[in-house]
Amino acid sequence: MADTAQTTNPTDRTDRDQHSAVRSLLRLWPFIRPVRVRLGTAACVAVLASCISLVIPLVLKWLVDGPVAERDPGGAWLGGAFLLLLGLAEALLFGLRRWLVARPLAGVEAAMRAALYRHVQRLPVAFHDRWPSGQLLSRGTTDLQLLRMFFAFPMTFLLVNGVTILVGAVILMVQRWSLGLVLLAPVVPLMVLCSVFEAKYGRAARRAQDQVGDLTTVVEESVLGIRVLKGFGRHRSQARAFRELTRELRATELGKARLLAWIWGCITALPELAIGGALVCGAVQVADGQLSAGTLVAFLSTALALRWPVDSIGFLLAMSNEAAAATDRFFEVMDEPAVEEAAAGAPGAAAPEGTGKGLVFSGVAFRYPDAPPDSPPLLRDVTLHIRPGETMALVGATGSGKTTLTALVPRLYDPTAGRIFLDGRDLATIGRDEARAMVAVAFEEPTLFSATAAENVLMGDEGAQEAELRRALAVARADGFVDALPQGGATQVGEQGLSLSGGQRQRLALARAVVGRPRFLILDDPLSALDVHTEALVEAALRQVLSDTTALVVAHRPSTVLLADRVALLSGGRIAAVGTHHALLRDHPEYAALMSGEGSGEGENDR
Ligand SMILES: Nc1ncnc2c1ncn2[C@@H]1O[C@H](COP(=O)(O)OP(=O)(O)OP(=O)(O)O)[C@@H](O)[C@H]1O
Ligand SMILES: [Mg+2]
Repeated sequence: MADTAQTTNPTDRTDRDQHSAVRSLLRLWPFIRPVRVRLGTAACVAVLASCISLVIPLVLKWLVDGPVAERDPGGAWLGGAFLLLLGLAEALLFGLRRWLVARPLAGVEAAMRAALYRHVQRLPVAFHDRWPSGQLLSRGTTDLQLLRMFFAFPMTFLLVNGVTILVGAVILMVQRWSLGLVLLAPVVPLMVLCSVFEAKYGRAARRAQDQVGDLTTVVEESVLGIRVLKGFGRHRSQARAFRELTRELRATELGKARLLAWIWGCITALPELAIGGALVCGAVQVADGQLSAGTLVAFLSTALALRWPVDSIGFLLAMSNEAAAATDRFFEVMDEPAVEEAAAGAPGAAAPEGTGKGLVFSGVAFRYPDAPPDSPPLLRDVTLHIRPGETMALVGATGSGKTTLTALVPRLYDPTAGRIFLDGRDLATIGRDEARAMVAVAFEEPTLFSATAAENVLMGDEGAQEAELRRALAVARADGFVDALPQGGATQVGEQGLSLSGGQRQRLALARAVVGRPRFLILDDPLSALDVHTEALVEAALRQVLSDTTALVVAHRPSTVLLADRVALLSGGRIAAVGTHHALLRDHPEYAALMSGEGSGEGENDR
């Protein structure tokens, strides 16, 4: 388990050129669109506020060359008051900007998260087989937070600071172009440095975010598998794996910090040098009488006012790169094709001659998308007809593909070849929602959600009434223990609630499958965790339900097989034999071996 996190992420992509950062970020437009007016207004307000800060040096110039030089206290007071007013206006405008963006951006983050969740729910089961859950979790949480921060800050301020720097540069050049050139000398080298930095930082940011996803996977697995970890004394090795990942993440983050320190150093040092140079040149010119003291003051304070916009460019670029990486990670999930609904009324193949109603598999083949390319398909040619109202047991060695075959009926996977018919209708044309309304499943691993016991059962049929719930609980022989729970059916179970025993969970899952009186019932080894006595009771009740349902029941034990009218033996990817339990016992040595507990190949020795 410890090494699961090291498995390469299916979407690992480390080489990203810097242009794709902009392209990535542009893909966010549909989410920004609804709040574009507010964001635009906020950006204009910020540009205005920023430009006000550039007016201040001009007032200073007037103050120094006018009232100060002429020793006019009245004028000095006036100038001071004006400066105060400008400062106040700047602060107010920046406050207004914050107020404008806060609420819409929280809305954008929520909308993106909702879109991601909705999409993940619609992705095929095969996607979830492939993707570690922690990668999905981190994309839905930390990455989206990064994006909100990007909208709130770098997105606006790259624009605002860019405009400010341009306006400032024009003011500088107008005041004294020779000094202006000295000051602007570092611009070209800085731009080159920034573009190198951006490419490097983008890659590091992506690596860090992927590592956060791996870390999340380990944490999630450790929490869910805490019993196994403790039971096998593996908590130390798991902790080691965790430490190893945190070390890697730390190394990546330190690398990012180093890059940032390096670019920040350049971005602050070079302009600082330029300001120093301009100060010396300017002082010499003032001494020579070529330049007024006021102009030099104004010039230098304009340069100083531009320091923050210039300094901030380093980390604004860094944040933008992180946001671009987060955007890529977000859209990697969003770009996965969701399962398509079959077009209504699309012509399906006709059911094979003479089969009519019931559940029919016709030449069904299947291989998992992530199976090794040279391996033979798991199911090769499954042909089976379960008559309406009939119960068919499905028997086969472990790993023979029984669970896989049952997963095809509710369309969790689609067969790679062949067809399945529900009451004469081609499953491929029925559409998943409708197919799932017709078919109910109790899976091998009974999963309960953090909800009440009753809610867990009613997932099988949301519209079911209390009477239906009672009936389903009774069939699964779950009524006894559910009533004995502290609040009966209203007791919280699942992850956040009371822990139930394996057999109790299995019975709730069974009740969930039968509550909606489905036309087709698929049970994957539904009674494996029950004691012999309870199994007999459940069987007796199930027999009634099964009498008017077409059912496929995966069975490992003779007692479960006896529920069925006929038995199908799955072997070597096809149905090797169909018949009654006794006929197969008599005629089929492989079946007899499976049922007697001797097993064949990797048989049933563990049961
Ligand atoms: N999601 C998956 N991706 C790839 N291979 C899978 C996947 N699920 C199962 N398999 C493989 O398919 C084979 C059949 O698995 P399946 O769960 O259908 O067996 P089974 O007959 O139900 O076994 P059991 O009696 O132990 O429940 C196994 O070899 C398994 O490794
Ligand atoms: Mg199975």
